Amino acid sequence: MATDRTERGARSSTAAIQQLESLERAGMKQLPKPGRRETAQAKAPHELSVAERSAIAQSPGEPLPVVGDSLEVIRQEVAACRLCHELATTRTQTVFGVGNPRARLCFLGEAPGADEDQQGEPFVGRAGQLLTKIIEACTLARTDVYILNVLKCRPPGNRTPLPDEVSNCRGFLDRQLKLIQPEYICCLGAVAAQTLLQTETSIGRMRGKFFDYQGIAVMCTYHPAYLLRNPAAKKDVWEDMKLLMRKMGIELG
Ligand code: URA
Repeated sequence: MATDRTERGARSSTAAIQQLESLERAGMKQLPKPGRRETAQAKAPHELSVAERSAIAQSPGEPLPVVGDSLEVIRQEVAACRLCHELATTRTQTVFGVGNPRARLCFLGEAPGADEDQQGEPFVGRAGQLLTKIIEACTLARTDVYILNVLKCRPPGNRTPLPDEVSNCRGFLDRQLKLIQPEYICCLGAVAAQTLLQTETSIGRMRGKFFDYQGIAVMCTYHPAYLLRNPAAKKDVWEDMKLLMRKMGIELG
């Protein structure tokens, strides 16, 4: 419980600091809207002391007090991010996310692959085409949902993301989700599921049931790239999608 709070506090802290720095880079001299924390909000982001930044950031469970965040602001920060040296020096471009910013359902993948790195859009390669078919089989379109990844840069050779890379990128993911406010998240594969839910449980044990992430119902299922290697697992993914659609109130014929 205490560890949970500490982890949430640390993530909230990273996100708040990213947000303050971004507002400052965008030329904002003063935080808009007075709120509950009068002292901090009367100052420009660069005038905040470390203690004040912490006071803003370390309120687990509370929404960030700084207003003005947007997907466009985050997209620009992601594009400028160089926290992971290897990823920043090998990527063609960052891959932010695509779809309906008010989607009820988000699909969360692992990291861009070669095609995504080239095109700047998540899930556009072979695995992406399979994901599109899965979405359409659910009577939805890619433009109805929002598709994003844990990492916004391609790991060289499509290797598994390193823990430091996941943690560097985590603030961006949390802020995307906070803005989109989906009712449902479908985690594609172990990296997405384990990162979002902060667990080491295998994807095989997590799939087929719902988890809660900050009030959002989360379904975990196999990654489409795994399905390309193991077509027999497609039926399991379809079972998971049927459960998810039933919970969303979407009829599947
Ligand atoms: N695999 C992922 O996890 N994400 C993508 O965007 C593409 C492939």
